[in-house]
Amino acid sequence: MLISALMLVLIRLMLSLLSFAPHYNCNATTGVDTMFAGQSLKGNETLVSRNGKFELGFFTPGNSQNYYIGLWFKEVAIVQKKKTIVWVANRDKPINVTYFSSSEFKLLDNGHLVLIVSTKSNSSSIIQVWSTDSMTSKTTIDSSIKAVLGNDGNLVLLSSSNGNIMWQSFDHPTNAFLPGAKFGYNNLTKKDQKITSWRNAEDPSAGFYSINLEPDKSVSFKWNQSREFYNSGAWNGHFFSNFPEMRIGVVTSYDYTSYDNGSFFTFSAPNEAAPIYVFIDLSGQLKAPIWQSKTQDWTTIWVKPMQQCKVYGICGAFSICSDNNVGPSICQCLPGFEKYSPKDWDLLDYSGGCIRKTSLQCGDKDSFKELFNMDLSQAIPSANALAVDDAKKCESACLQNCSCDAYAYYKNSSGNSKGIMCLLWYGNLLNIEQLGGDKGNDLFIRLAASEVPVGSRMKASSIWTIVGVVLVGTTIIVGITFIFLRKWWTRRSSRTPEPEERYAFLTAFRYKDLKIATKNFSDKLGSGSFGSVFKGTLPDSTSIAVKRLERFSQDQKQFRSEVSTIGLIQHVNLVRLRGFCSEGRKALLVYDCMPNGSLNEHLFRRKNPKVLNWQQRYQIAIGTAKGLAYLHEACRECIIHCDIKPENILLDADLSPKVADFGLAKLLGREFSRVMTTVRGTVGYLAPEWTSGLAITAKADVYSYGMMLFEVISGRRNLKQGKDGKVWFFPTWAARKVLSDGQSVFSILDDKLDRNANIEELSRAFRVACWCIQEEETMRPSMGQVVQMLEGLVDVNPPPMQSYLQTLVQNEETADFFS
Ligand SMILES: *[C@@H]1O[C@H](CO)[C@@H](O)[C@H](O)[C@H]1NC(C)=O
Ligand SMILES: *[C@@H]1O[C@H](CO)[C@@H](O)[C@H](O)[C@H]1NC(C)=O
Ligand SMILES: *[C@@H]1O[C@H](CO)[C@@H](O)[C@H](O)[C@H]1NC(C)=O
Ligand SMILES: *[C@@H]1O[C@H](CO)[C@@H](O)[C@H](O)[C@H]1NC(C)=O
Ligand SMILES: *[C@@H]1O[C@H](CO)[C@@H](O)[C@H](O)[C@H]1NC(C)=O
Ligand SMILES: *[C@@H]1O[C@H](CO)[C@@H](O)[C@H](O)[C@H]1NC(C)=O
Ligand SMILES: *[C@@H]1O[C@H](CO)[C@@H](O)[C@H](O)[C@H]1NC(C)=O
Ligand SMILES: *[C@@H]1O[C@H](CO)[C@@H](O)[C@H](O)[C@H]1NC(C)=O
Ligand SMILES: *[C@@H]1O[C@H](CO)[C@@H](O)[C@H](O)[C@H]1NC(C)=O
Repeated sequence: MLISALMLVLIRLMLSLLSFAPHYNCNATTGVDTMFAGQSLKGNETLVSRNGKFELGFFTPGNSQNYYIGLWFKEVAIVQKKKTIVWVANRDKPINVTYFSSSEFKLLDNGHLVLIVSTKSNSSSIIQVWSTDSMTSKTTIDSSIKAVLGNDGNLVLLSSSNGNIMWQSFDHPTNAFLPGAKFGYNNLTKKDQKITSWRNAEDPSAGFYSINLEPDKSVSFKWNQSREFYNSGAWNGHFFSNFPEMRIGVVTSYDYTSYDNGSFFTFSAPNEAAPIYVFIDLSGQLKAPIWQSKTQDWTTIWVKPMQQCKVYGICGAFSICSDNNVGPSICQCLPGFEKYSPKDWDLLDYSGGCIRKTSLQCGDKDSFKELFNMDLSQAIPSANALAVDDAKKCESACLQNCSCDAYAYYKNSSGNSKGIMCLLWYGNLLNIEQLGGDKGNDLFIRLAASEVPVGSRMKASSIWTIVGVVLVGTTIIVGITFIFLRKWWTRRSSRTPEPEERYAFLTAFRYKDLKIATKNFSDKLGSGSFGSVFKGTLPDSTSIAVKRLERFSQDQKQFRSEVSTIGLIQHVNLVRLRGFCSEGRKALLVYDCMPNGSLNEHLFRRKNPKVLNWQQRYQIAIGTAKGLAYLHEACRECIIHCDIKPENILLDADLSPKVADFGLAKLLGREFSRVMTTVRGTVGYLAPEWTSGLAITAKADVYSYGMMLFEVISGRRNLKQGKDGKVWFFPTWAARKVLSDGQSVFSILDDKLDRNANIEELSRAFRVACWCIQEEETMRPSMGQVVQMLEGLVDVNPPPMQSYLQTLVQNEETADFFS
C-alpha cells in the first residue's frame, strides 16, 4: 500500500516536471504585478495589478495587423471579450505582424523598459521599437529597479534601493485618464500631460483631438493640437464652470493643485469603485464612462461638448454634420461629393471628408446646388467676405474664380444695411451643420454641370423619354399586379393562416403593411432614444405611432416574448402597445397615437407654444406618477422605466398623460445603457446611482421624475447651455431662491402662467421634486408616496437642501441665470 502510494506521488512529480520543463522560463512573468530586471512579457503573458483590476500586455485593436503594449480593465475584458484600452505604450510605433516576428516587453538591467522585436527576414537583427529611455531625464543605471503595475493602473519604474519613482505611465497618458492620474502641466519635463484621441477605431496613434489644462485653469479642447473649439470654463475650486454635472452624484472627488513641479488636475474614486475613466473619444468629445456590472456595459456619465457637431472638423471637408442622424454616422457628403476614404469612415474617422465626384470645368460650365437650413456659424471664419449687395453678383464672383467652392448670400438680420453678407469659400469647406426646421441659411455649392439635376433645363427631346418611361412603367405595373393577384389567389385557395397573428392583446403586423400605413415612413413625429417614431393610419382609419427600433440585434423569438409581456401592461396612464413587427433585423412597435404630442412640446417650444395652465400641469404630474407607480408596484414584475423625461410623457385628447417607452430597457438589454447615454439631453435626468455602478432600482425613476417635475413647474429645461458656454442648472437656482433666500415659490413658476397657480399645490409640487432628487436613494419617496403627497393625502415636510446643490450654490459667482 505504502509503496504504491509513494510510486504514485513519484510518477505525479515526474509528470509535472516533464510537462513543466519545456515551457519553463525563469524570466517570464504572468499574472503577477511586478517585473524585475531581465524579465519580460511575451505573447499573451501579462502583468496584473495586485487587486486584479488592471492588466497590461500585448493587444491588437480590432482587425488591425498591429500589436501594441496596452493597459485594460481585466474584469471588463473578460465579460465583454473586448479590451477597453486606457493606456498604450507604443501608440505611434506599432509592431507590424507581417514585418516583425518575436516581440518582447522587457525590463533591461540598466533600468529601462523597452519593447524589442526582431524582423522576420533576419531574426538576429533586434530592433528597439519603444523605450522609457527617451522619456525620463533621470539616468537609471540601476539593476535594483523593478516595474510594478499599481492598483490604480499606474505602471511605475521603482528603484528598490531608495524607493524613488524613475518613470510612471501616469506621466505619459495617451487618450485616457484614470482616477489618481495627473492631468496638467509638468514643470519638470516642461511638457503638457494631456490626452489625444486615437486616430481611428483600430489605430491608437495620435488623432486630431486633444485636451490640455490651460494656465487659466480651464480645459481646452483642440483640433490638430492648435485650434481651440471648446473650453470647460475655469476651475472654481469644485468644478469647471461649464461642467456643473461633474458634481452630481459622482463617487469621485476632484482636485486642482499647483506646485513648483507643475499644475495638475486629478480626480479620485474609492478603490472598490466600479471601473471608471475619462477619455477623449474619436468623436472629439470628452467622455466619462463607468462600468455597470448590472448591465455589463459602460454608461457614460457626461459628454462634453454635448453636441457632436460642435466638434471642429469632425466630418472633414465638404461634408455635413447632423446631430439628429440616426443612421450609422453623423456625417454625410454634400451632394455631388463622395467619401474620400470609405475605409476610414467605417473606422469612425471622417477627417478625410469628401471629394468631388466630377471635377469642376471652371468658368460658366459649372453650376450651383442650393442647400437649405445650414448652420454656417463655424464655417464663417474660414470664408472670404465680399462687399456686394446683389445675389447675382455674389454668384458670379464665385463662378469667376475656379478655386471658389461655395458661396452664401444672405441678409444678417441682427446687422444693419451693412449686414448683407456675400461669403466665398476657397478650398476646404469645413464644419457646416444641417439644422432642422426653418433655421439657418442657404449655402450654394459649386458643382460640375453634370452633377446638378437638370430640373428646369429640360428640353423638348426629353418629353419623348418621359413618354417612353411612362409606357414601360405601366407595362411593369400591370405585370406585377397580375403576378400579385395570382399569388393572392393561390394563397386564399390554399387557406394559409392569417398573416396577422395575435399575441394576447397584440397584433403582429407585417412590415409592408406598416410601410403603407406610414406612407413609407414619411411623417416623422420625432426621434427618441431608441429610434424614430412615425405617424401612420390603419385601414380602419385609426391613427397609430410606429416606432422603428434602431441598431437592433436581438433574436426574434426573444423579442416577441418580451414584447408580449409589455403588451400585457395596461393602465390609463401608460401608452397602449397595439402591436409590433419583427422581420429579419427589422423591429417595430406600434402604439396608439396621442393627438396632443409629448409634454416637452407644451413645456419648452418657443414657437406657438400650447401653454398648459397650472391645473393641467398638476394633473399631468399626478397622472405620470400614477403610471410609474403602476409600473413599479402593481405589475407582476417590477418594471423600471429608466428613461423618464418630458419626451416620453405623451398627452391624449384630454391632456391626460401617458407614459411611453416603458419596458424598452429590458427589451434592448445591454444595448440600452449605451443608447440611453449617447442620446443628447437624457443625461440631465440620470440618477446618481447610474454613475456609481450601484444597482439600479425603481428609485432611479423617482429621481428622473423629480427632475421632470422641476421642468413642469418652471416650463424650462433644467440644464441649459448659454451662448457663452455657461451651463444653467435650474434645480440649483430654484432651491437657492426658495430654501435659502426664502422667496415665494411663485419665483420659480413658469412666467407664462403669470402667477396663476394654486400656491398650496405649487409648494407641494416643489417639495416633492426636491425630495425626489435626493442623492441618497433611500431618502427619495416611492412613486406611490409621490402620488399620495401630490394628492394631498399626506403632508410633505420641507426638503433638506441637497448637499450637492449646496456646493453648487455656494460656488456660483454669477447671480440670477434665469432672470
Ligand atoms: C533571462 O534573462 C537573462 C538576463 O537578462 C538572459 O541572459 C537570459 O537569456 C534570459 N533567459 C530567457 C529564457 O529569456
Ligand atoms: C495563451 O494562453 C493560453 C492559456 O492561458 C495558451 O493556451 C495559449 O497557447 C497562449 N497563446 C500564446 C500565443 O502564447
Ligand atoms: C506592415 O508592414 C508591411 C511591410 O513594411 C507593409 O507593407 C504593411 O502595409 C504594414 N501593415 C500595416 C498594417 O501597417
Ligand atoms: C542580420 O542582422 C545582423 C545584426 O544586425 C547582421 O549582422 C547580419 O548581417 C544580418 N543578416 C542578413 C542576412 O541580413
Ligand atoms: C495640422 O497641423 C500641422 C502643423 O501645424 C500642419 O502641418 C497640418 O497641415 C495640419 N493638418 C491639417 C489637416 O490641417
Ligand atoms: C509635485 O510635488 C508635489 C508636492 O511636493 C508632489 O506631491 C507631487 O507628486 C509632485 N508631482 C510630480 C509630477 O512630480
Ligand atoms: C516652474 O518652476 C520654476 C522654478 O522652479 C518656477 O519659478 C515656476 O513658477 C514654475 N512654473 C509653474 C507653472 O509652476
Ligand atoms: C482666386 O481666389 C484666390 C483666393 O482668394 C486667389 O488667391 C486667386 O488669385 C484667385 N484667382 C483668380 C484667377 O482670381
Ligand atoms: C451679423 O451681424 C452682426 C453685427 O453686424 C455680427 O456681429 C454677426 O457676427 C453677424 N452674424 C453672422 C451670422 O454673420
